[in-house]
Amino acid sequence: MKEFRTDKAQDFIDQKVTLKGWVANFRSSGKITFLQLRDGYGYIQGIASESDLEKPVWDKIQGVTMESSLIISGTISKHPKKDEYELQVSDCEIVQLAEEYPIGKKDHGPDFLLDQRHLWLRSSKQVAIQKVRNTIINAIYEFLNKDGFIKIDSPILTPNACEGTTELFEIDYFKERKAYLSQSGQLYLEAAIMAHSKVFDFGPVFRAEKSKTRRHLTEFWMMDAEMAWVEHEDNLKVQEELISFIVAKVLEINQTELNTLERDQESLKKIKAPFVRMTHAEAVTKLQKLGSDIKEHDDLGGDDETLLTSDVDVPIFVTHWPAEIKAFYMKRNDQGLALCDDLIAPEGFGEIIGGSQREDDYDELLKRIKEHKLPVDQFQWYLDLRQYGSVPHSGFGIGLERLVGWLCGIRHVRETIPFPRMINRLNP
Ligand code: 4AD
Ligand code: MG
Repeated sequence: MKEFRTDKAQDFIDQKVTLKGWVANFRSSGKITFLQLRDGYGYIQGIASESDLEKPVWDKIQGVTMESSLIISGTISKHPKKDEYELQVSDCEIVQLAEEYPIGKKDHGPDFLLDQRHLWLRSSKQVAIQKVRNTIINAIYEFLNKDGFIKIDSPILTPNACEGTTELFEIDYFKERKAYLSQSGQLYLEAAIMAHSKVFDFGPVFRAEKSKTRRHLTEFWMMDAEMAWVEHEDNLKVQEELISFIVAKVLEINQTELNTLERDQESLKKIKAPFVRMTHAEAVTKLQKLGSDIKEHDDLGGDDETLLTSDVDVPIFVTHWPAEIKAFYMKRNDQGLALCDDLIAPEGFGEIIGGSQREDDYDELLKRIKEHKLPVDQFQWYLDLRQYGSVPHSGFGIGLERLVGWLCGIRHVRETIPFPRMINRLNP
């Protein structure tokens, strides 16, 4: 008998197969039991009829519980009306009869579900989210590989800050000293572009954020890209091309998952480069007109980000920020504004990318490091890059969970990563 996979069901019509999987759900109507089976690749309905089965097999099926693991045999048929397949059950081996499953049909609160995250991952929406996440990861690799980037793995243990010292996780690095968990691999990628021109990394980063918002995790995944000889304008172009490519891939590959998630696809179909561009000053003016109390030199709050995109279909680049509210490494223009961009997703999903052109002049950068009261000796290697063949360069970082949340229509990032870490959550 052939081993069946739900994602290849069309290859098995009218054939006798075995399926290895789990009972996602079941219901009985007297002489027929319907088993919703999950094999990790998808779902299929198993139909067990008392009249077709030997009594011991029928009895065994009557004893199944939610999430029991099974090896089940039968014949595959196409559903007469729907684009679905069915398994007419002929035999069944229960590999492990599951205990009473804690996640039921009733509405559970988020805390309960997060405590049960090791089990919750099996629920259909959670399965769909992780599949979309996987498509996004692969799309990023595909786009960057085609464009000549190579992957450089930046370290997680670092001696210094990248983004802001207030959000650093500090650990004891043996007896002698402290180390910090990386907030972004950017600074290391700036070294690598002098060897490879275009590079990226993709891995976990850490922020000791005290903020308990739906957009913040303490551990999340970031893809940093860095490019030699690329200045502000071209940096934006790469970002909008990459995001458009990712959205198109998700629409192409994840129809089933987007339907499971009830994601509005019309709004995703509109995500095509070029995106809207506005300066920070223009954004502030627009927001004030819309009723925000944001001031000239303020960062955009979560509500501002939502308000700003309320009348557009594509993401917005907010550029040219007041330098004092941005990171030390950003290059400034003649007016002293940072040559940077925050890319704000539409529909209230907030900032998905932070990027900038980097300061490439030794003296300017040294001045900034001192202004930010960062330890110059720890940044000497980074300053060195401005002494040995410095070039104009730019880059950006995508927050994977924010991007997954947006494309899946999931409001809270805690559902977009397999095991979320937040200020009040480290388990399971
Ligand atoms: O804007 P950020 O802080 O930029 C950097 O770290 C740069 N060094 C990146 C670079 O230029 N290579 O972070 C980048 C993105 C944000 O736009 C956001 O999407 C996400 O990372 N992000 C978070 N996601 C979840 N939880 C948090 N606490 C996040 N902080 C940032
Ligand atoms: Mg940012």
